[in-house]
Amino acid sequence: MSFTPPPYPHDRLKDIRKLPHEYGLELLDLSIGTPIDPLPSKFRELSFDLINGYPTSIGSNQLRSSAIAWMSRRLGVTLTLNEVAACVGSKEFVASTPWYLHLRRPERDVVLYPEVSYPTYAMGAILSGLKYVPVALEDGRLNIESIPKDLLERTLLIWTNSPSNPTGEIYSVANVLQVARQYDFVVISDECYVEYSWNGDRYSALSEGTEGVLAVHSLSKRSNFAGGRVGFYAGDSTLIHYLSEVRKHAGMMIPGPFQELGARLLDDDEHVEDEAKRYRGRLEKLIAIFTALGYQPKMPDGGFYLWFDAKDEKDGFAIATSIAKRTGIIVSPGEFYSPNYANFVRVAAVASDEALDRVLLSL
Ligand SMILES: Cc1ncc(COP(=O)(O)O)c(C=O)c1O
Repeated sequence: MSFTPPPYPHDRLKDIRKLPHEYGLELLDLSIGTPIDPLPSKFRELSFDLINGYPTSIGSNQLRSSAIAWMSRRLGVTLTLNEVAACVGSKEFVASTPWYLHLRRPERDVVLYPEVSYPTYAMGAILSGLKYVPVALEDGRLNIESIPKDLLERTLLIWTNSPSNPTGEIYSVANVLQVARQYDFVVISDECYVEYSWNGDRYSALSEGTEGVLAVHSLSKRSNFAGGRVGFYAGDSTLIHYLSEVRKHAGMMIPGPFQELGARLLDDDEHVEDEAKRYRGRLEKLIAIFTALGYQPKMPDGGFYLWFDAKDEKDGFAIATSIAKRTGIIVSPGEFYSPNYANFVRVAAVASDEALDRVLLSL
């Protein structure tokens, strides 16, 4: 059977994006989690000395050392250079890793992922021709115990994501790891929102040990550096060695000047703390807006999204349409994150305070 890529989720909102203009409202596109705040001026220069030669695929020693220092400082995890490697932002890593791991263990053909989640976990399995099986998040943990033994025996890897996009939940992977070690599969913990942990400590799966575990990080959200495409993965040194060798063959490289700037961003926590304050304030304003509209949004435990039940008989696109007509705000329908959550919406806190104040005043 030939493969046709499905429409990209956010492209499906193009008609809804026209509505604010038609209704005389300011368009506030909060459907995509794309950071809007500029880099502090001290980070606005790139070193083009590094542009002539090929960058290393695994990442410069400077970038990897900065990643190690950051993980130790912010997450309390101690790693060495052979336990860290670069990726070109984290999305390509999420989309390509199932295939690379399957090449290593062709008999394993199942990818597990959280039931309500960032769509690329399932897409990475689809692009690899693998089976993908959702795992429910219940009572603050992934209910991996609900997965039948025959599937666990075929499982290649499980994605976890805390703080979660879109739900904002923060959860331990201790129970997942126990099952993963019993059935000998890999746990990959996507931690790209970890700096925005509002309720409780910043948590890395690597605090449970590195054997069979990788954590994936990105500067896109932490440092408003989505355009720089700087990420890294860290943990089990055997997996790091295997994946970094494969990725070298595939030509996955962060351009040198961006590796250098990425390292400098990782060395600095001040701009992140400033950004965290901004996101918190914007989440509170968004809660006020959606409460005024009659919904019941709550402050997430982490991340910068509101995720709430729009409690409507209609599908998520109808809900998004009605919100766009009333406020000019574009939200993501819940079905982007799970077919079972069509009545939910996700709202990213990526508008300026002034724009959010204007919406609040207009209600
Ligand atoms: C949970 C999660 N993982 C990974 C990514 C990918 O981010 P990037 O490729 O910019 O690192 C995103 C982006 O929205 C995300 O929400």
